[in-house]
Amino acid sequence: MASEKPQIGWYGLGSMGRPMAENLQRHLANNHERPLIYSNRTLSSGETLKALGAVPAAEFTDLVKRCDIVFTMIPNDDVLQRLVKLAIAGSSELSNKIFVDCSTVHPDTIKKLSSDLAKHEAVLLSAPVFGGPSVAGTGGLVFAISGLESACLAVEKYITNVMGRKLINCGENASNASLLKIGGNIITISLMEAVGEAQVFAEKTGLGTEAMEQLITESFGAIAGGYSKRLTSGIYAPPLDTRPGFGISLAIKDAKHALSMGREHDFKLPGLELADKHMKAARDYGGECLDSSAMYGILRQQGNLSFWNENSRQGGEYGETKDTKDHAGAV
Ligand SMILES: NC(=O)c1ccc[n+]([C@@H]2O[C@H](COP(=O)([O-])OP(=O)(O)OC[C@H]3O[C@@H](n4cnc5c(N)ncnc54)[C@H](OP(=O)(O)O)[C@@H]3O)[C@@H](O)[C@H]2O)c1
Repeated sequence: MASEKPQIGWYGLGSMGRPMAENLQRHLANNHERPLIYSNRTLSSGETLKALGAVPAAEFTDLVKRCDIVFTMIPNDDVLQRLVKLAIAGSSELSNKIFVDCSTVHPDTIKKLSSDLAKHEAVLLSAPVFGGPSVAGTGGLVFAISGLESACLAVEKYITNVMGRKLINCGENASNASLLKIGGNIITISLMEAVGEAQVFAEKTGLGTEAMEQLITESFGAIAGGYSKRLTSGIYAPPLDTRPGFGISLAIKDAKHALSMGREHDFKLPGLELADKHMKAARDYGGECLDSSAMYGILRQQGNLSFWNENSRQGGEYGETKDTKDHAGAV
């Protein structure tokens, strides 16, 4: 297992990874521990992290070599598989290293990679998170964690009250935390669909989205209120040169994992199926630069409104031409 003051590493500085890594680096600096070593496909995304005292590593394999505990926050299963393959193929001794994946991936991926790493006496923990980039910035994420108990104990001091406000321990079966995350996202995605429908209702009936947003926030809580704000502020379809808060393809990947488990275990997720269909239609229409809540654009189209609202970007890669078409058959 890692030494008492392990060297911590971080790979993945996207919407979630960067604020999480920054909180971790602040914690390490405040506690006079060795600075975080970080890497990312686009290394320049680490400039603010570097300004906090963290140290860049050009390659993932170099990061692995220099660190006892390596956090990853990357988009999907393929990227995680590739990173673990690189770590195993790299020249460094993996024995006693702990890999902590905070991304949302399929439980089978965790199971397989955990077994691959165990052959090299390394441990993989699954530690996915609940909450978006703004919550990550405040250190208020909810984490789930699973895997070897001693490894969980070694990393939890870098999570609780550092990057997250709550850590749910799902036990020694490494894939359990991933299972919880996929299950939790059934609620996240379905809630976005419900909030989108309520806001189309408010606009089409003349009630207005402001009153509806107040109700959603006061009555259904800050998370539902936040989803409503993504719609009314227009960030469901952000400017093309920005990174969406929770990219639509990430949410489609999460829905795919949940739906595949439904098929595998013989149960149905009809609400999620509908939201998935709307997310895919939104991506077909507006491209990749959309937030997961962009099913709202399709719900708008089904009510003969434009995909774009007054605060979103207007058109985009595909939108300008398609917006002039009859929207009835969009889904
Ligand atoms: N956003 C949310 O609200 C949210 C909430 C909970 C969980 N999650 C999950 O957390 C994970 C990260 O989400 P995110 O929103 O931070 O994603 P993101 O903004 O798209 O960032 C993805 C990160 O992975 C890197 N990356 C992408 N493709 C890669 C590749 N082929 N090889 C190596 N690195 C690659 C990106 O590098 P570049 O900087 O070079 O692009 C970036 O650092 C996902 O699994 C997501 O489902 C997201």
